[in-house]
Amino acid sequence: MSEVDLTLLFESHARSCDPNDFQGQVMRTPYGKSAGPDQVAMIVAAIGKALDIGPHDVLLDLCCGNGAITDPIFARCRGGLGVDFTPYLIEVAKTNFERSPDRLYLLADALEYVETTDDTKRFTKALCYGAFQYLAESKAIGVLAALRRRVPNLQRMFIGNLPDLDRVGNFFEGDIPSPDELKRHDTLFGIWRTEQEMATLAAGCGWRTEFSRMPSAFHAAHYRFDATLVKRSLKNTVTTWLRPIWRPYRRSSRFPRG
Ligand SMILES: C[S@@+](CC[C@H](N)C(=O)[O-])C[C@H]1O[C@@H](n2cnc3c(N)ncnc32)[C@H](O)[C@@H]1O
Repeated sequence: MSEVDLTLLFESHARSCDPNDFQGQVMRTPYGKSAGPDQVAMIVAAIGKALDIGPHDVLLDLCCGNGAITDPIFARCRGGLGVDFTPYLIEVAKTNFERSPDRLYLLADALEYVETTDDTKRFTKALCYGAFQYLAESKAIGVLAALRRRVPNLQRMFIGNLPDLDRVGNFFEGDIPSPDELKRHDTLFGIWRTEQEMATLAAGCGWRTEFSRMPSAFHAAHYRFDATLVKRSLKNTVTTWLRPIWRPYRRSSRFPRG
């Protein structure tokens, strides 16, 4: 599947659902049924807690889908902006949840948006729920680096519902897909990562990562994790970049040849 196919998949799936089936439209369908209010409440609570969301915050939700998760978070702060590249989902978000000027939704690619927008100063918190795994590795790095570089007041970013490579066997009952398949962003699950892989990716873009898990009553708790990114100092970021370069020299100076 290519990225274009992925967009078409999100679009055609959402269109095939009932216009009010907000969870079904974004494929949140455990055991074939749309996630119920109890599951949604758990998601909203986890995001609110990890982001420490408060009345003065302004939220940037990247890959916001139809806004059904974004809106209850907007309700707990000053609002903000949801961005998604699937036209029908943004249409649903605008129809059902948009309240200008505080709760807005925009049709755009996440990377293009964060790399080009001038509207950066007001955002204090960011969110990417159930979607980061669908960004190609280079795009994922681009998004995290641009947020760190261009959004000066961003304090925390919540990246939720990531497929956990260390617990892939908890999900697949039969054959586990090949390692190559598990690393593809353009599949139904997107990229499976370990917590360590996620931390390394984020560290290279200037973020320190905290991890959390959903309560066991959450339908995907057994094979997914959540990551909250917090700004790292410039010194620590540069150290992460340089480590692979200086490691061989350090080794060879400790064990000199000849
Ligand atoms: C499973 S849905 C999750 C939507 C929403 N965050 C939620 O939890 O309800 C994944 C979303 O990621 C969006 N998406 C994937 N890649 C994207 C990109 N490069 N830019 C913007 N949106 C993207 C899709 O359009 C889709 O709406």
